[in-house]
Amino acid sequence: ADQRAVSTAQVTLTVDGREVSVPAGSTILDACREADADVPTLCYLRELNEIGSCRVCVVEVKGFDRLVASCNNLAVDGMEVLTNSPKVRMARRTNMELLLSQHDVACTTCVRSGNCSLQEVANDLGIVDFEYDTDLPPKRWPRDFPLIRNNQKCIKCMRCVQVCDKVQASHVWDITNRATHTLVDVAGGRDIHDVDCTLCGQCITHCPVGALRERDDVMTVYDALADPDVTTIVQIAPSVRTA
Ligand code: FES
Repeated sequence: ADQRAVSTAQVTLTVDGREVSVPAGSTILDACREADADVPTLCYLRELNEIGSCRVCVVEVKGFDRLVASCNNLAVDGMEVLTNSPKVRMARRTNMELLLSQHDVACTTCVRSGNCSLQEVANDLGIVDFEYDTDLPPKRWPRDFPLIRNNQKCIKCMRCVQVCDKVQASHVWDITNRATHTLVDVAGGRDIHDVDCTLCGQCITHCPVGALRERDDVMTVYDALADPDVTTIVQIAPSVRTA
């Protein structure tokens, strides 16, 4: 009976002045959604990835001197949450600009253009330029593997790591290197051919950007130009061939 009392308990708080009640144990993000407040998320995947790495979901909570990630902090009775204050908008924008500075923003040649969470949040925030210098890791990937990881697109959200581990019970991806050289890549720095990738596609499905995708049956001009091992383009994309 005690357990039931705990699981049915509610907390009541305000989000942008609107009072909402959510089950105890809910996150601030849950409360924001209950209040129909538009809070963007990139890294969050319920129960799979709640590490709070992207920081685009930050909100202001009255009485807290710092902004908090709404996706991994609990809603508490009496909280007063602001999702769209000048402080929140500025922080969200800065966090997005930092993510964009480590992302290949060649959206027109990206398979995920129009279906990319990063692009959507950037558009919603009206970001057309950013202050930080772009710093992209080297792009290297075997040309004969049916799945492509492009670390110049990766925002290190860890979703692929978690779905591979927790849904597929496999361990293809992991964080590698340190500090500014941190990458999400093949676990243990191994070659993708040497790990147990079953090509299930879970990582592609859960990637919020275009860092993971299926390889087309022919190498595109874009892949070839980006591949340091290719000196002569011998195969071209069908659209180019017929042009
Ligand atoms: Fe909350 Fe990324 S969605 S920190």
